[in-house]
Amino acid sequence: MVTLDRPVREASFELLLKENQRFAERYRGSNLMCLIQSKQMEDKENRERLLDSIQIFSDYFQKTIMLRSVFCDDLEFLSVVQLHLNEEFGHNFKLMKDRKYRAPVWHPVLEATAAWFAWKMLTLDNAEKTVLIHLVLEASANIFFSAAHKVMCDYGETDYFEVHAQADAEHEQMGSELLARLCAEKYVSLMTIQQQGWDMLNAACDQIAYLSTHS
Ligand SMILES: [Fe+2]
Repeated sequence: MVTLDRPVREASFELLLKENQRFAERYRGSNLMCLIQSKQMEDKENRERLLDSIQIFSDYFQKTIMLRSVFCDDLEFLSVVQLHLNEEFGHNFKLMKDRKYRAPVWHPVLEATAAWFAWKMLTLDNAEKTVLIHLVLEASANIFFSAAHKVMCDYGETDYFEVHAQADAEHEQMGSELLARLCAEKYVSLMTIQQQGWDMLNAACDQIAYLSTHS
C-alpha cells in the first residue's frame, strides 16, 4: 500500500502555514531551481525546451483555475476564486505566442502530474482546493518565476515570467484567511492534500528540469 512519507498526526492552521514554509524552502533547492540559476540557461535550446515544458504546466493551470471557478458555489470562496481567475486568465496563450506556437513537449509524467491538479478541482472541497492553488501552486510559482524572470529577461525571448514574478506573492496569500478558522479535523485533510500537492508539483518540476536539458 502506498502511504504518505509523513502521515499527518498533528494539524492546525499554524502548522499548515509552517509546513508550507518548509516545503517552499525545500523547493528552493530543487532541480528546476538549480537549473534556472545555472549556466545551462545560456544555451538557447535549453531555454526553448524549458519554455516548451512549462507550456504544458501553464495550459493545465488554466484548466485548473477555470474548473475551480465553474464548480464553486460557496460565496465565501467565490470572490477569491473569481479574482484569481481574472488575474490569470489566458496567460498560457501569451507563452504560446512568445514560443511562436511551437509544438509543446509531450511526456507522460509531466502530463499526468500537471493534469492531477485539474482533476482535483472535481473531487476536493473549497478549502482543500485553496490549499492546492494558493499554498502549493502559487507559493512555488512565486519562488520559481522570481528567479526565472531575472535570468530570462536578459534574452528578450519572453516576458511571460515578468507578470508572474510581480503577481504571485499576492496570489500565494489569497484565500488564506478562509482557512484560518476551521475545525481541528479539517486541518488533517488540508495538510494531507498539501503534502500530496507538493509531491506532485515537485515531480512535475523535476520532469521539466530533465526535459529542458535532454532532447
Ligand atoms: Fe499566479
